[in-house]
Amino acid sequence: MTETPLPKATKTVFIKTYGCQMNVYDSERMKDVLAPIGYGPVAGPEGADLVILNTCHIREKATEKVYSELGQIKKQKAKTGGKMIVAVAGCVAQAEGEEIMRRAPVVDLVLGPQAYHKLPEMIARVHRKTGERLETKFETLEKFDALPKTRSVDGPSAFLSIQEGCDKFCTFCVVPYTRGAELSRPVDDIVVEARSLASQGVREVNLLGQNVNAYHGAGPKLEGAAEWGLAQMIRHVAKVGGFDRIRYTTSHPRDMDDDLITAHGDTPELMPFLHLPVQSGSNTILKAMNRGHTREHYLSIMARVKAVRPDIGFASDFIVGFPGESEADFEDTMDLVREVNFCIAYSFKYSSRPGTPAAEMFGQVPEEVKTTRLHRLQALLWEQQTAFNLSKIGQTVPVLVTGKARMPGQMAGRSPWLQSVYFDGDESLNGQIVELKIDHATQNSISGQVLRVKEVAV
Ligand code: 5AD
Ligand code: SF4
Repeated sequence: MTETPLPKATKTVFIKTYGCQMNVYDSERMKDVLAPIGYGPVAGPEGADLVILNTCHIREKATEKVYSELGQIKKQKAKTGGKMIVAVAGCVAQAEGEEIMRRAPVVDLVLGPQAYHKLPEMIARVHRKTGERLETKFETLEKFDALPKTRSVDGPSAFLSIQEGCDKFCTFCVVPYTRGAELSRPVDDIVVEARSLASQGVREVNLLGQNVNAYHGAGPKLEGAAEWGLAQMIRHVAKVGGFDRIRYTTSHPRDMDDDLITAHGDTPELMPFLHLPVQSGSNTILKAMNRGHTREHYLSIMARVKAVRPDIGFASDFIVGFPGESEADFEDTMDLVREVNFCIAYSFKYSSRPGTPAAEMFGQVPEEVKTTRLHRLQALLWEQQTAFNLSKIGQTVPVLVTGKARMPGQMAGRSPWLQSVYFDGDESLNGQIVELKIDHATQNSISGQVLRVKEVAV
């Protein structure tokens, strides 16, 4: 494919990303949209022509950060004589767009997650000082169609968004309201993007979606329009891109179908790592959360995946202090954690989100109880994470080298289990897969000596 060369960057854009990997991906795509109109990325807001805050609405704290950051940006904008264009994107923009415009006059434009392809025209409107400065309609398909199909990537590992939105309506969660209904991209479009990534040397692809294992995209046109599931997509992407590593994030227990479980056993490129949020180990709380699965169902999935892929590492998300959570319910969560043994996990205090059903529920848990429970849960999860890292000592682990480490003379990378890995080496190893003999581990990382460099498959 011939690609039109991009114009030389004459203007600068600084994008600050909050929240989930979907936002990280979206920020990359915003750079792709802005490059043809002359914007090149910079590392800080000082003197930038355009500043975009790509925001997260999932918990109250994440939302508050936006307003305090806008206070800082205001000072930077003043230094440019008011020329800097300030945009708020992402889920806070979607949920509170009009309020942002009212509360923060420093903001020139507000755009929700489905409107990124409209950035160039919105910027033009700001320059002309006419037209709509708020774009928060749900047009996911239009966005996918309008974004450039090819990508510019930085490094050997990349996200590829295959699905957006969520129809699950967990009672605590704002995502179905900020990201809209579930939508899967057609297989052909994903393949074009995967090939573009492969041509730029990407070796690890992380298939991304709010509910990625609910993926059901229109099959390849040549083979008819039958729908494909995630497992089929994983196998196909591995093949067309010749990638060494495939991952998928984030999934829901209800959508772990037989084919996907089988893929963990029969697809060598699929990394032995499963991030499957459970949120709670109590059936009463799972029901109140509208998760649509029980503790037993979750445990049975883990057992089945482990049976086909014994070296699998499990990751999860937890919420403590959901309305009505008793001490016994919380103990059920602790007990589930002991039973599964996670290699990494993300845990949060329940945060009441306006407009969600849980915000109106009886039995809101006092803040100090949430704090105590979070500490207890995190202590256990950290213990498990450290034990997992220590268990790698003495083993040979393939590591995808992602860049220089902070320590001079050291490089950094990722293990199959997403552990951060450090080792002595030089920059010629960047983007390679090296085999390391692990000799040291901490709570947050492992390190070792290079044994050999894996050949690049051509
Ligand atoms: N309060 C606390 N945590 C939440 N999450 C989602 N909504 C809330 C909320 N209202 C957590 C869930 C989810 C992760 C992305 O964020 O654990 O899996
Ligand atoms: Fe939110 Fe639940 Fe959808 Fe995940 S599955 S995005 S937690 S509503």
